[in-house]
Amino acid sequence: MIHLEGATLIQLDNNIENDVIGPSTKDYEKVFYNPAMSGSRTRSIILMKHIIESGYLGGSEIYAIDGLAASGLRARRWLNELPEKLVNRLRVTVCDMNENSIKRAMENHQRFPPNNTGGVLNWRQGDLRSAVLDQGWHWVDVDPFGSPMPFLDTAIQSLAKKAILEISATDTAALAGSSKTALMRRYGARINPDNLAHDSGLRVLMACIARTAAKHDRFAEPILSVWDSHHLRLSLKVRKSIEMANQLEKMLGWRIAGPNEKEVSASMQEGLTPKSSTESLPMHCFLPLSYPVNREDKRVSGPLWIGPLGDSAAMASFTEEEVISMCTTEYDPKNPMNWSDRDFELERRKIIRSIKNIKNEAEIIEGEFLILTDDLASWRNVGSPPSPIKMIELINKKGFKAGLSHYPKPSFRTNAPWDVIIESLDQTQPPI
Ligand SMILES: C[S@@+](CC[C@H](N)C(=O)[O-])C[C@H]1O[C@@H](n2cnc3c(N)ncnc32)[C@H](O)[C@@H]1O
Repeated sequence: MIHLEGATLIQLDNNIENDVIGPSTKDYEKVFYNPAMSGSRTRSIILMKHIIESGYLGGSEIYAIDGLAASGLRARRWLNELPEKLVNRLRVTVCDMNENSIKRAMENHQRFPPNNTGGVLNWRQGDLRSAVLDQGWHWVDVDPFGSPMPFLDTAIQSLAKKAILEISATDTAALAGSSKTALMRRYGARINPDNLAHDSGLRVLMACIARTAAKHDRFAEPILSVWDSHHLRLSLKVRKSIEMANQLEKMLGWRIAGPNEKEVSASMQEGLTPKSSTESLPMHCFLPLSYPVNREDKRVSGPLWIGPLGDSAAMASFTEEEVISMCTTEYDPKNPMNWSDRDFELERRKIIRSIKNIKNEAEIIEGEFLILTDDLASWRNVGSPPSPIKMIELINKKGFKAGLSHYPKPSFRTNAPWDVIIESLDQTQPPI
């Protein structure tokens, strides 16, 4: 069976049951390919283009490892879909402990070679935890079944002085706060399983990565964070800097649901909540790590990352034009999948969907409030949830930033003080 993902072809051998399409099995003999992760692979192409062009990785060869490569499609998409000038600098390795995965990745590479032949694809069969330490890497991708924690320490040690680390996690029950024991055991944290749990989960994972980086004299900062149906993914810049690593504690803290006045005032004093009257209190606020919290208190999530979860310049590069030009192809009646014009159109739409709202959120990623409009309506006891777009319009008119967020529920992010948010909400409600 031949399949097209983005602009790259892949042969899957599911007829003879050697390959698995989908997340149903973790059998290490089989070659894993999950079409539901296509968005994550697409985003990693856009991100790689932005990062290389920004000059962050210098001007010569870039050593990248698709650490838990499975079918190797991520690495092959980098080599096939990025512009030639960038591909020429790529020295990519696919690593997997499954011999069949490596075999299949390299067979596919030969059968459907990349458009640009200037890049290099190497392979390494074995356990990533030792393989990754063979050399220094500019780009490390860790995309495991379940939690990435077992791979974190060695992945970080293997990074060049300036590098990118992309980490996925599929243990969403733990990171959304519903499997409390797994969450505490793996991530040393608690999460209130409310509607912001996905954001809290990303922040808890980020805190763990940043702490591990600091142990190795490095500072990690998120450039993109996405919770996409059954997985979370964090993309980070990691730099060697003792000075910055010493500042880590300032980026860690707690999220309090339904905070009291004392907590909100403390959060404002620390610059974690925009200054506002405390007549009406916000739904959530962050507090620094030094704030004494009762960890048994169900309102408390953390320890977690309290800084921005992305980088505006990187997020602004997620444009529709960019993703269409690199990651889609025109309908070809002789295509090997026997796809119709409509199948191509569906793939194109899927690709565009995978970057939805990332650019919108770019300008406001540093905003302190992530507001879920359904929650806001019930919190304030008003009839109908406001449209996020209307709220953004009203807040912008009052001189504050606001933008739609790439979050799986209707929501927006803003730096407006809470009383401005409430005033805007009231304006959306019909007169009594
Ligand atoms: C979720 S899949 C990776 C999916 C892939 N990144 C993609 O985009 O399709 C996880 C892969 O990790 C491999 N794996 C599991 N433990 C490993 C280890 N310790 N070292 C290397 N590979 C490992 C499995 O064989 C499997 O192919």
